[in-house]
Amino acid sequence: MSKKINWGIIGAGKIAGKFATDLATLPEANLYAIASRSESKATAFAQNYGFQKVFGSYESMLQDPDVQAVYIATPHVFHCQNTMMALDYKKAVICEKPFAMNTKEVQQMVAKAKAMDTFLMDALWTLCLPHILKAKAIVDSGQLGKIVSVKADFGFRAQFDPEGRLWDRDLGGGSLLDIGIYPLMLTLFFLGKPKKITAAARIGPTRVDEDCAVFFDYENGQTANLHSTILARTPTEAFIYCEKGFIHIPPRFHAPISNIKILEYEGLKETTVPFDYQVIGYQYEAAEMMRCLQQGKKESDLVPHQFSMDLMELLEEIRGQIGLVYPRHD
Ligand SMILES: NC(=O)c1ccc[n+]([C@@H]2O[C@H](COP(=O)([O-])OP(=O)(O)OC[C@H]3O[C@@H](n4cnc5c(N)ncnc54)[C@H](OP(=O)(O)O)[C@@H]3O)[C@@H](O)[C@H]2O)c1
Repeated sequence: MSKKINWGIIGAGKIAGKFATDLATLPEANLYAIASRSESKATAFAQNYGFQKVFGSYESMLQDPDVQAVYIATPHVFHCQNTMMALDYKKAVICEKPFAMNTKEVQQMVAKAKAMDTFLMDALWTLCLPHILKAKAIVDSGQLGKIVSVKADFGFRAQFDPEGRLWDRDLGGGSLLDIGIYPLMLTLFFLGKPKKITAAARIGPTRVDEDCAVFFDYENGQTANLHSTILARTPTEAFIYCEKGFIHIPPRFHAPISNIKILEYEGLKETTVPFDYQVIGYQYEAAEMMRCLQQGKKESDLVPHQFSMDLMELLEEIRGQIGLVYPRHD
């Protein structure tokens, strides 16, 4: 593998543009190719973000032997299909969240990556961000004692559009898969899988969840209280409450922020840990992937395959409880 890694992106949508902007900040990344269902759209994207090659279909880009790393940025329902095709061409893949629509698809994707001896990673960018890793290191140090509970939310008010990705059931719409996944991911990262899940949701006219509340119970009494909504703007912050103090990850906890705060109960001592992020934040996951590729790894230690599977199991259980059905995938 050459020193610079040739990147190809599948799907020239909104997140692809943000990812490309951050990718351009990494000297080891070469913005090589963009694939869209529309060649003119791909051409415009290439001009905007500085890609060398343009493809009017996803498969034609995968046929290019010089594409090494592929970022999949299509709607949820295509993640498995697009990933499987990229793996068939033996490309290293990072695929947007949610990684797939169900556990069966995740199993297929991981099995294919293993069979092809190829790298595969869930694009859980939050797990690669320094402030989240710092919060985990503080908890792991024992400084604040054991975790008592986790509280996190993610909400924004979206314009109702029955054909848009957020509302259309055929495109995997709803709050849970789009943003509810972040509070879940954070909790899974800090506490692991719960013993019991209790979920409730408001299912809207397009039959997707517009608002979803989830409660986790753990064997040892730990709890988590999580919420997502596309009907209201909520703080989008997280708290890790521990025995001797708590960590506050301020809005928007899942993305780069300027600081995290620690409050120790004794003396109500508050400490601020500053962060100096210069970019949107997607370069950390891309850098993690390229580190893995340079080291010959097939999966990331920050976002291992088992984490993707565990997260999908949580999503599946919650979907079952709230009656969130995706007819083409269930
Ligand atoms: N990590 C994050 O922070 C983050 C943020 C936003 C979204 N996401 C994830 O990224 C994925 C894409 O989200 P987005 O907001 O970028 O969506 P978007 O703007 O709608 O872009 C998705 C792209 O997928 C392609 N596509 C293929 N088949 C499609 C179809 N039938 N309908 C619509 N688009 C289709 C299109 O690209 P072409 O027309 O070029 O083929 C489209 O531009 C979602 O799974 C979402 O969860 C992640």
